[in-house]
Amino acid sequence: MSESSTSYQPLGTERYKKIVFLTGAGISKASGLPTYRGKGGVWTTENVEDIGTKEAMEKDSLKIWRAYVPRHRKVLEAKPNAAHQAIADLQKRLGEKAWVCVLTQNVDGLHQAAGTESVIEAHGSLRRLRCTECSIKPWEITEDLTDEPPPCPDCGAPARFDIVLFNEPVDPMLGLQALAFLGDCDLYITVGTSGLVAPASQLIDIADEAGARTVFVNTEPEDGRYQEYYVGKAEELLPHLLR
Ligand code: APR
Repeated sequence: MSESSTSYQPLGTERYKKIVFLTGAGISKASGLPTYRGKGGVWTTENVEDIGTKEAMEKDSLKIWRAYVPRHRKVLEAKPNAAHQAIADLQKRLGEKAWVCVLTQNVDGLHQAAGTESVIEAHGSLRRLRCTECSIKPWEITEDLTDEPPPCPDCGAPARFDIVLFNEPVDPMLGLQALAFLGDCDLYITVGTSGLVAPASQLIDIADEAGARTVFVNTEPEDGRYQEYYVGKAEELLPHLLR
């Protein structure tokens, strides 16, 4: 492992056929969005039991709505940074020569805003709503949101953000899609996630089993399960590593 981010060699991405990224809140920090843990993290100032769980939603969905409207607004204001852009540029550059897939735990839509296609949003999106009661397909938010959730266009029940809270299941279809990419990927790159939250935290084992080169990019090299560690800010490292 090198001392300084500038001394790292680029990963040589053109040698790979199936590249999977797993991204977390750290990749969006330079876009002005907070991480969840660590200094300034959402869960250091907010109580996860109050606004971050299935049980909290069942108890008081209006409270959750009001807690997340300001986050939704922040997400709409945020712009992709150099790390999001480096992944989008890589996908474009490799074109049909390789698959590039992004599995993200982020709910900000910034990978898509940078132009990346095939993004799997494991924890949903603050840019979409769904119904608190019926199973109508989630819909894009096109209006300014207020303190009161809009009604579901199908059944009239209050809407909620289309995000996955703790103790809520991740859509199993997304899991299958992710496995289809991970099962035979040859390069697996984790960026800006503490790796503490399942099921995303378990994907390294699948990539490892597939025989992939496994790479961890983070300001803190706390995870011990990867072959290679690149320590620094994603927005500085990725443009260099992926060039
Ligand atoms: N570049 C790279 N990594 C960074 C940067 C940066 N500029 N800034 C912070 N990091 C790293 C931190 O060292 C930390 O390991 O990003 C990670 C952020 O970790 P978390 O805050 O735990 O975020 P994440 O891993 O995405 O959380 C997973 O937990 O609360 C739930 O649903 C929420 O999706 C979220 C999930």
